[in-house]
Amino acid sequence: MRDEILRIWPELEWIEDPELREKTTRCWERAFELSPLEPSDLEKIPFTLKVQDCEVSFMDHKRLVVHVSRDSGLKIREFFGDRLPLDMDTLIAGAILADVGKLLEYEGDGSGGSRQSARGLYLRHPFTGVSLAMECGLPDAVTHIIATHAGEGNMVSRTTEAWVVHHADFMTYEPFVKRLVLPADRDRD
Ligand SMILES: [Fe+2]
Repeated sequence: MRDEILRIWPELEWIEDPELREKTTRCWERAFELSPLEPSDLEKIPFTLKVQDCEVSFMDHKRLVVHVSRDSGLKIREFFGDRLPLDMDTLIAGAILADVGKLLEYEGDGSGGSRQSARGLYLRHPFTGVSLAMECGLPDAVTHIIATHAGEGNMVSRTTEAWVVHHADFMTYEPFVKRLVLPADRDRD
């Protein structure tokens, strides 16, 4: 299992602190222990059910969010320096873990597939992700990113790292569900 997690998440190597890297890896391992999904399933299932015939896989979206977060963090440091402090390890670990709770939103459908679970309806993935992260001993600064990366986070104050992950996530999701469609685009469909 661990080898498979390292295969689908090469970005884990970007976390410099070995203890944080280990806890982040362990958190994904724990999520798979509780999920009917295997790591390779995440390379096939669509990243959202809100887009009909979505061709972007779960892993393609989650990894892109990590890449956009990291690149954004590096640019913020380059241009703002100490005027807007930002911890790259916290940012990268939080981006890698933002959607880990989604593994608890699935259950087997009885015929070899999977469907959204009642738990997923009761507890959206920011909540189950926080539970997994606390169980695995992740620092509160990382767990905060999981807690606030989605709409729930609009109710509280976000850290700089959490703002970056939130926007990386939404800028790579919202164009799929609410982009401006011009007449020429409609004609093509
Ligand atoms: Fe999410």
